[in-house]
Amino acid sequence: MPAKEIAPKDIAAPLLAWYDRSHRRLPWRAPPGANAADPYRVWLSEIMLQQTTVAAVIPYFEAFTTRWPTVEALAAAGDGDVLAAWAGLGYYARARNLLACARAVASDHGGRFPASEAALLGLPGVGAYTAAAIAAIAFGARAVVVDGNVERVVARLFAVEDRLPAAKPRLRTLADTITPEARAGDFAQAMMDLGATICRPKSPDCLVCPVIDACDAARRGIADLLPKKAPKPARPVRYANVYVLRDGGEIMLVRRPPRGLLGGMLGLPMSEIADTPHPEGTHPGAPAAARWSRGARPVSHVFTHFELHLTVFWGDLSDITKPAGDWRAADESAARDLPTLFRKALDFTASVGQF
Ligand code: ADE
Repeated sequence: MPAKEIAPKDIAAPLLAWYDRSHRRLPWRAPPGANAADPYRVWLSEIMLQQTTVAAVIPYFEAFTTRWPTVEALAAAGDGDVLAAWAGLGYYARARNLLACARAVASDHGGRFPASEAALLGLPGVGAYTAAAIAAIAFGARAVVVDGNVERVVARLFAVEDRLPAAKPRLRTLADTITPEARAGDFAQAMMDLGATICRPKSPDCLVCPVIDACDAARRGIADLLPKKAPKPARPVRYANVYVLRDGGEIMLVRRPPRGLLGGMLGLPMSEIADTPHPEGTHPGAPAAARWSRGARPVSHVFTHFELHLTVFWGDLSDITKPAGDWRAADESAARDLPTLFRKALDFTASVGQF
């Protein structure tokens, strides 16, 4: 064994030393070693980070915490306000769970997040990963925090060649073996930072890695090949029509039903989502019998489980009376902050010189 080599189980000390020097400064973090980040900010950031990247989350995190600085303030917010503030982060079930969780903390826990992983798991929208992350980062508990970044780092440290997702239980067991008793929250965030900045999915930067001496995959020159993944099933394509009905400077919006896709959000009138395109010449879900023009190509938007191809129709009130609806000035924030797929449909009508 070369003199420098260390066992993966001994990475905590060099990894934490690297984190002390090089951690990313993020608005929800306490300084390294503080063991006392605000549970509300940790929870909110973790829920948001399940959706998208750190860079994309920061402005949403700042906006939420400015407007709702405590969990009790968020618990008292209106559903529509929170869903609107969430628009653009995607996956609205999370926003609904976010509110349900804030209200559960306010009403059942006296406005304080519980500290144990088990009690955290009982909160709406808090799964195994989030409970462990909050327990470790906000309360300093020794919890094993495993997200995609951590799985990748562990797969490389131990040169695990089994494929994901089957390898998950083994990676978790291995993560447990390297998690220290002290500073488990900093350790988890150090693993995340390492995964995001050095042990990246593609072209890992092994030469500057603070724990290269513990890494089996780097030693064998296979870090960039791990973790191996089972081939992904193709995402099915589904179809819907959306309708941009205009009256001068106003467009017609509708409040979507509370459950289901984009539940409770304001949106453009839309048909049911179907497995095949709606037949040409038909207008299911249209808000009125207007003279509809049809976009020549669909607008596509990717959800987790399917890709939606939207056929965009536009029309005005020249032949019809104004239907009842949530009419909004096209340039007011309610229209600008629509969920991304509707925004894309409006951008499409603008791009073809309509509206
Ligand atoms: N991704 C998920 N949680 C994170 C955190 N606390 N810091 C950085 N990246 C993360």
